[in-house]
Amino acid sequence: MSKKIFSGVQPTGNLHLGNYIGAIKNFVDLQNNKDNSCIFCVVDLHAITVIQDPIELKNNIRETAAAFIASGIDPKNSIIFNQSLVPAHSEGSWILGCVARMGWLNRMTQFKEKAGKDKEKASVGLYIYPVLMASDILLYDATHVPVGDDQKQHLELCRDIAQKFNNEYKCKDFLTPPEPLIQKHFSRIMSLKNGTKKMSKSDIAEGSRINLTDTEDEIVKKIKKAKTDNDTLPGNEEGLKGRPEAENLIGIYSSLSNQNVADTLNEFGGKNFSDLKNKLSEIIVTKLSPISKEIKKLLSDKNYIDQILEDGAAKAEGISSKKVKKIKEIVGF
Ligand code: TYM
Repeated sequence: MSKKIFSGVQPTGNLHLGNYIGAIKNFVDLQNNKDNSCIFCVVDLHAITVIQDPIELKNNIRETAAAFIASGIDPKNSIIFNQSLVPAHSEGSWILGCVARMGWLNRMTQFKEKAGKDKEKASVGLYIYPVLMASDILLYDATHVPVGDDQKQHLELCRDIAQKFNNEYKCKDFLTPPEPLIQKHFSRIMSLKNGTKKMSKSDIAEGSRINLTDTEDEIVKKIKKAKTDNDTLPGNEEGLKGRPEAENLIGIYSSLSNQNVADTLNEFGGKNFSDLKNKLSEIIVTKLSPISKEIKKLLSDKNYIDQILEDGAAKAEGISSKKVKKIKEIVGF
């Protein structure tokens, strides 16, 4: 079945192995299936829900686009653009925000985590961000959305918004509730310092994550220092239960070597963490070094990246402005 794919990544700096394994690597696989049509968005409007330095933001937008391309997304096959170049996203977001319910947004766990204890000080944008995400997806009639596990609840909200809009405005099947594409094993890459905490851009401990732009030395050092437990590695999945660090490192290795977890456990069962760590550093360096080099090369020609984003935005605008026009007609404007 042909799929209409849409996904987005925030340009907030420090793209890491979690973003790569949980999202970008799958974008590439989906794009390589010629039946799919793919749109990948640098979601800069989402980024400013937390204050950003304007100069850094501009660089990060280019760097995220460069990371897409360096990882294998081909701008000739997929649309790559940044969200703020296409006004339909904000327009759609307002209208869908009038359909979404406060009660639904109040349940969003990511808002609770990001806002922390002092919710009163969080931006309104951070609170309504899942509505903008729904607008991103629904404007392109996306059927499938590849994301990491942390976005699952936002996609459920997106489905609820689509269904409520279709019901309230009596336009059956007008907005398409999308299917999430969340990989079973590798959708939640954890911190290298704590196997129960998600690997994240905002973690203050640099050693908790591998960045896509880390040098070979940095990668080797971070993996060497990654937290482990005192046992040898188990030979089957059952043995990973209650061992979050082992599960995480085995998961990363399996994903990057494109093999299932059972095969990795066959390879390392009964061995020490140091054996796994040596092989893991090797595979991370092998997979990420070419990407990191290509990101640097692409960033040396800013005009080239800007042109790709502008061309992508023109194509995205062509699709989403028509959809938002219909949405406006339906609501009575
Ligand atoms: P963002 O920018 O936080 O993350 C980008 C993608 O990376 C995934 N991810 C992870 N996957 C596995 N393990 C991790 N530790 C990890 N950390 C991040 C995320 O799940 C995501 O897929 N709201 C979204 C961006 C967005 C979007 C959209 C996505 C905006 N509009 C429309 C899909 C469709 C976000 O903030 O992702």
